[in-house]
Amino acid sequence: MLFPAYRPRRLRKNEGIRTLTRETRLSVEELVYPLFVVPGEKVKEEIPSMPGIFRYSVDEAVNEVKEIKDLGIQAILIFGIPERKDEYGSEAYDENGIVQRALRRIREKVEDVVLITDVCMCEYTSHGHCGIIEKGNVHNDKTLKYLGKIALSHAKAGADIVAPSDMMDGRVGFIREMLDKNGFENIAIMSYSAKYASAFYGPFREAAYSTPQFGDRRGYQMDPSNIREALREIAMDIEEGADIVMVKPALSYLDVIRAVREEFDHPVAAYNVSGEYSMVKAAGKLGWIDESQVAMEILTSIKRAGADIIITYFAKEIAKTLNSYQR
Ligand code: PBG
Repeated sequence: MLFPAYRPRRLRKNEGIRTLTRETRLSVEELVYPLFVVPGEKVKEEIPSMPGIFRYSVDEAVNEVKEIKDLGIQAILIFGIPERKDEYGSEAYDENGIVQRALRRIREKVEDVVLITDVCMCEYTSHGHCGIIEKGNVHNDKTLKYLGKIALSHAKAGADIVAPSDMMDGRVGFIREMLDKNGFENIAIMSYSAKYASAFYGPFREAAYSTPQFGDRRGYQMDPSNIREALREIAMDIEEGADIVMVKPALSYLDVIRAVREEFDHPVAAYNVSGEYSMVKAAGKLGWIDESQVAMEILTSIKRAGADIIITYFAKEIAKTLNSYQR
């Protein structure tokens, strides 16, 4: 294909032609909106490092979910911020814990919304680590029992999908068995399979008050340098029964998303995390970039890399933009 016979610019001539020949299209249906729930009533507090993202009490969360559904977004990912934290993160598996209450209320008040829950301990433990501490270290196998209890309590309260984000070895198989034994064989598992020890989680930890009180998470989350290891993690989770696998963060890991897409058939989710959101918001505020265009470009790149599902704090804004295209 040589110039002048072939002129790539012909297909860029106007918006109609560009739209017709576009290779990657984002759609509202593939977006998942993360939601932070807190105790109390009538609470809607903005998270300082994440403009436009709020912590909601359960009553307010219901209104928010209705709004999300009206925009065409079908799924939310719920994170809970508990009343009390302790060494064992016991509010995480309490049937009257914050996530469990939110699940029941949203299920009752909003029709047909897919409820996904983050299954982890770091928001609930006094030390801020994702499991049970023994001799200064997160004990893998002891933590599994707690993760199983958390996942089961979410299923009982009405979750459709549980999403373990702790990065303990063997947790997908353990949770699958626990759910099946208790009659929840139809509850799906979306595993945070390739979750990296990333500095991009900073704003989330402020939002959820979940910064580790000592050390860091590098003993369980993955080293950002590794991609072959990500494929091993994904393969393991699929063998253990994961229904959807996830790569997290997304933007600095597009190559990982692509590799996972090529190697496996399972639905692939990508988590466009808090730091990726906040960077765009901050630069937008300074007038250095056009934040809505940059957001669209980032999400398109995540989809182009191979993600089927995108979890993003931009979901509402992007949904509004996408809906405005359909005149
Ligand atoms: C819980 C969890 C984290 C995120 C999702 N689940 C934080 C962490 O691992 O420290 C981060 C999400 C984000 O940054 O948007 N383990």
